[in-house]
Amino acid sequence: MPAIVLIGAQWGDEGKGKATDILGSQVQWVVRYQGGNNAGHTVVLPDGQDFALHLIPSGILTPGVRNVIGNGVVVDPGVLLEELSSLEARGVDTTSLMISADAHLIMPYHVAIDKVTERFLGKAKIGTTGRGIGPAYQDKVSRVGVRVADVLDEKILHQKVEAALELKNQILVKVYNRRALDVDEVVDTVLAHGRRFVDRIADTRLLLNQALESGESVLLEGSQGTLLDVDHGTYPFVTSSNPTAGGAAVGSGIGPNKITRVIGILKAYTTRVGSGPFPTELLDAMGEHLRKAGGEVGVTTGRPRRCGWFDAVIGRYATRVNGITDFFLTKLDVLSGLERVPICVGYEIDGRRVDEMPMTQTDVHHAVPVYEEMPGWFEDLSPYRDFDELPTAARDYVHRIEELVKAPVSAIGVGPGRDQTITRDV
Ligand code: GDP
Ligand code: IMO
Ligand code: MG
Repeated sequence: MPAIVLIGAQWGDEGKGKATDILGSQVQWVVRYQGGNNAGHTVVLPDGQDFALHLIPSGILTPGVRNVIGNGVVVDPGVLLEELSSLEARGVDTTSLMISADAHLIMPYHVAIDKVTERFLGKAKIGTTGRGIGPAYQDKVSRVGVRVADVLDEKILHQKVEAALELKNQILVKVYNRRALDVDEVVDTVLAHGRRFVDRIADTRLLLNQALESGESVLLEGSQGTLLDVDHGTYPFVTSSNPTAGGAAVGSGIGPNKITRVIGILKAYTTRVGSGPFPTELLDAMGEHLRKAGGEVGVTTGRPRRCGWFDAVIGRYATRVNGITDFFLTKLDVLSGLERVPICVGYEIDGRRVDEMPMTQTDVHHAVPVYEEMPGWFEDLSPYRDFDELPTAARDYVHRIEELVKAPVSAIGVGPGRDQTITRDV
């Protein structure tokens, strides 16, 4: 088993943390390759303890697995140390975590700019997590970013922060009427944090390639989801990185030909946090029912998630742009108790029937779902472990999804726990 990519097939929060945790015992390495602490991945251990991970790979909860924060990630040093401490306080061994020297740092000015930009945008806001993700990636692409390795060289770090703040302070003060940040203060804080993780800094692309060469297997854990991808998502209502499978090679430094399996994590219905189009969104009591039944509240920001029916156009799109080999369908248990379960099989856009992801954002905004109704089921699915024993209607729902999204479902989630999973040979 060489490299496996695990990605969100919708707008995030599909259950990637749980899926990574399950696969953790089958691999030697787990790697985060993009995003930062905008992610919120929940893992529930067999003893009932639950963990919310933001920056650190979910593999940290599997003893013996080596964990890597790859070059494609943006790292907030304070958040990193807090997350490490809180895991250690709960008895988790974090010694295996390594951080790419090339990952970019989220600086205090990135967080400040993220927040003021959103306020400035008013109604047009993206609804970001306010963690400085966009501004940190902006600096990376503008070639004025600060990288993890810079904490090893105080002089360089000082030069970079000074250069960055020259412009950023003008923006903060003159455009947004905020307080200017002090160069020395920022540098001292980053250095103080950096001293506490210097031993973890590594050339992680070398480590990962050596591991693959020696026959070890690597799981690349995506954050966010396909429709939050800056290239393939519902731009501009997206995050600032590439969660899609192609991003896994770039964000970890391994060749794409090492990836032999791409697992899509797909919720049995759809959710989204923040602004942007969402064709199957339910703004009625049914949406509220899904939110309650599925516990759909953001792990990072505590915002209620927007909820809607399963959208097969999106699922099929995810299969295509990621090269998904198989899906892990999560939260099927949440749909129990419904007379009928609609599936969106296409859109109607200004009088036209459309079966694939529309080309323009205007069309996505205008897309009205075309539904096919499946019979529902009333049994509690959480005790089931065998696909063939599931109620017929639940099995039919899975089969129909497989047909529509054009990839097999290899595992089904029937509860948040590690063991509440049905696996299938596909
Ligand atoms: P991630 O960001 O993709 O890792 O997903 P989140 O952790 O943000 O949200 C998924 C939520 O669903 C978490 O609270 C999980 O514990 C929970 N969950 C995952 N799989 C299942 C499942 O099959 N059934 C139920 N009921 N909950 C699940
Ligand atoms: P996980 O990994 C759901 C959304 C935000 C916002 C947009 C941009 O838990 O699935 P950002 O702070 O990244 O600039 O915000 O992306 N977003 C997520 N939504 N799950 C996530 O992560 C998300 N990370 C970012 O709500 O709409
Ligand atoms: Mg999440």
